[in-house]
This record gives sequence, structure tokens and C-alpha cells, in this order.
Amino acid sequence: MAKAKNNTVFFCRECGYESSKWLGQCPACREWNTFVEEPAASDKRPSKAAGVRTLGRGSVPVHITDISLEDQDRTATGFEELDRVLGNGIVKGSLVLVGGDPGIGKSTILLQVCRNLSGSGKKVLYISGEESLKQIKMRANRIGPITGELLFLCETDLDLIAEAIESAGPDMVVIDSIQTMHRDDISSAPGSVSQVRESTNTLMQLAKGNGAAIFIVGHVTKEGVVAGPRVLEHMVDTVLYFEGDRQDSYRILRAVKNRFGSTNEIGVFEMLESGLSEVKNPSEMLISGRPKEASGAVVACSLEGTRPILLEVQALVTATNFGMARRTANGVDYNRINILLAILEKRCGFAMSRYDAYVNIAGGMKMNEPALDLAVVMALISSFKNREVDPGMLIFGEVGLSGEVRAVSQAPQRVAEAVKMGFTTCVLPKSNLIKLKEETRIRLLGVENVREAIGLI
Ligand code: TYD
Ligand code: MG
Repeated sequence: MAKAKNNTVFFCRECGYESSKWLGQCPACREWNTFVEEPAASDKRPSKAAGVRTLGRGSVPVHITDISLEDQDRTATGFEELDRVLGNGIVKGSLVLVGGDPGIGKSTILLQVCRNLSGSGKKVLYISGEESLKQIKMRANRIGPITGELLFLCETDLDLIAEAIESAGPDMVVIDSIQTMHRDDISSAPGSVSQVRESTNTLMQLAKGNGAAIFIVGHVTKEGVVAGPRVLEHMVDTVLYFEGDRQDSYRILRAVKNRFGSTNEIGVFEMLESGLSEVKNPSEMLISGRPKEASGAVVACSLEGTRPILLEVQALVTATNFGMARRTANGVDYNRINILLAILEKRCGFAMSRYDAYVNIAGGMKMNEPALDLAVVMALISSFKNREVDPGMLIFGEVGLSGEVRAVSQAPQRVAEAVKMGFTTCVLPKSNLIKLKEETRIRLLGVENVREAIGLI
């Protein structure tokens, strides 16, 4: 007992919750089996890095009207997709966490941003604790020539990193990755919860003190020993996650938290031989290669942030061989699929419990907007009846438990995207029709309930 009190504490690997004893379930994030034992913080003098700047020391309160917002506070990254996700560019002195599975392209995109910024006259420092200078050079060669002031440093000691940042005075710094960094005054190993947390603290002070925007790479680990980026999510200004299948070349950058902009925005990229390239029109990419005459495939419209994105919802419904029907959901919420199947069973009289159902969103996208409901229902019934849906038809609408089709937000934007992509018919909630102008280029079919919509197949 005395030992635990003095020498070690327990941390939740997921969220960083601290406890003096081991717990099976974290009281903060409710995850099971995430507690790890780590040495308690020592009373040793804090390292130099720990005390570089104390945020706001000696400052006086100011009136809100005296605070000026300068336009040049934001710097374009050279990627429009990334700028939008960040909320219109990089903010001076901000701390951004870029998370994602290993090999998804975090180092690549940050190196490309470094290249773009240095090319436009900014000073950039790329600090890697994972790769040698030679490895970075090899990657840099793939993404194209670097012209401006781009400095590289292989280092994991935050004291030395703090010194390097103070002496170089860069506009942007990349820390690749936070799990390799350590502070000497913390006795636990790099990647442990206390190291990750304290290192981030130091970086936060460096960012605010020097006005450099710092990008931190954080690997997402499922059952690894290193602390997940969720430990630092609440400490940083912005959290971006890189998603996508490694087999697939498309990557989606999503803002999970953003103190400087909206969190609904996504950016779409494609991994090429020469690094990541922007996908300016994701709808085109997501619905290209769509089978024209196949049952169970429909096009839906989901709104991510300010941008409507068309995507293909696929469903396969087959008679079940065993007593219990199988259900799989890829890219959509599994529970949502079960609810929609129950609605079809109860409200429309389809014996769905005797059928297996597999639902998938093509292109590896993950969507959880309720506006996809109607499209999922249509795809399921199209596969069930083995009758194809008109390929020129776009579908969106939320489905309620009594089978009613409910209005969704920003219908005009969705219809406009459908027109732009050459669709001829749009099935939508009837209550959305009121606010829509008469359209000549597309036929608008308002439906009130699921049964009405199914009648269109
Ligand atoms: P990387 O940025 O190293 O991933 P992370 O830092 O997230 O771990 O990306 C590695 C993958 O990207 C690797 O599988 C190779 C691929 N890649 C390309 O396809 N093209 C390129 O130009 C580069 C630099 C990498
Ligand atoms: Mg990397």
C-alpha cells in the first residue's frame, strides 16, 4: 500500500485519468482494462523545458474591444482541403495533434505542408524521433524539390528540442511523433501516459511563448503499450484524424476538435507515388465505378461540414442459413442498420429477420449522418426485391421509428450537388420540399414515409 502511494500511480491509457490504485474500468472514459502502472512524478527540480515560459505571466486584463484580430495570423498550408479542415489555415501559436494509424500518411502530409510553407518564405523545423535524416530525405525526394528554409532535426529529448526551437525561431514545427519524445525529469518511459502528457505541456508552452504553430503526430494504438492520442486531445487546440483503409489510396482528414473552426469539415486526399494529393471533388471519386445495373446500390448525399458529398450505399440481403440473421455494417453505424431493419419489418411487413443483411459505403468512407437512413432503406429493399434503383436517382432523408421520413438540414445544398453531378431524380423528405425552389433540371420527389419511398423501386 505504502509503495503504491509513494512510487507509482496508475493511468488510463485512453484518457489519462490518474488513480492511486489499479482499476478495471476507467471512471472517466468507461473503457475497460486500460490502466497502466507508472512511476509517480518525482520531486526533482523540473527540467528547463518545463519552465520555458509561463503562459500569460504578469499580464493584465484587457477590454474585448481592444483585442485585434490580425488577418495574417492564419497561414495557408498549400492544401485547400487541409486549410478548410483547420478552419482557414494554420493559426500562429497553435498546437495541432494529427492522429491516425501507423502508415496512413501523417509524416507525409506534414512534410508536404513543411515544403509548401518553406517555399513561401516561412521558416520550418521538422523534428523526428522516429526516422533518421536519411529516411526523411528519401521521403522528401518523393514529394518533390524543397527550396526554402526547411530544417531537420533528429531528437527525442524535449530539453534540446526546446533549445532548438528557441534558437531557430521557426514559424512552424513538426514533432514526429509525441510517443517518442521524453523529458528527463519524468522517470517513466517515452510513450507512457505521464511522458506524453508532460511533453505536450512543454510543447504547448513553447507554442504560446514563441508563436510557432506546432504540429504533433500521435499514433493511434489499439492494444499497444503506448498512450493513445486521446490522452492529449483536451490539451491541444486542434485534433485532426487521418482515416482510410491502408489498401485503399484515399485518405480522409477529419477535425475532431477545433478551437479555431468547425469540427464537421473533412478533407479528402489520395496517396500517390509522389505523396498525398488533394481530391477536390470527392463526390465524383466516390460514385465513379458504380455498377449501373445492379440491385442494392443507391447514391446518397451526406453533408460533411459545409460540403455535400455524394456516396454510394450498397446493401446485400440474402436468406439466412442459420437461425439467427447476420448483419454487417461498413462505414455506417451497426445499430442504425438494426433499427432500420426493424422498421422495415414492423412498418412495412418485410420479414427481414429471416434475411442476412450487409451494408457498405463504397470508397471506405465513414458516415453517421441520419440523412443516409432513407438511402440505406432503399438499398436494402432494392437488394431484397432484386430490383435495381434508377441510376439517375439520388436519395436522402432521415427515417423515424414509425417509418416516417423526416426533414434533414440544408436540403438545397444537397439538391444542388445532385444537379451538378448530373442526377435526374432526387428522392427527399416531403417536408423539405416547401423550402426548395422549383427545379427544372432535376425531378424532386417528396416522400412522407418509408412505404412511399419503397414504392419507387
Ligand atoms: P507515412 O507518412 O510514413 O505514415 P505515418 O507517418 O502516418 O506512419 O506514410 C507511409 C505510407 O505512405 C507508406 O506505406 C508509403 C506511402 N507513401 C506513398 O504511397 N507515396 C509517397 O509519396 C510517400 C512519401 C509515402
Ligand atoms: Mg510517420
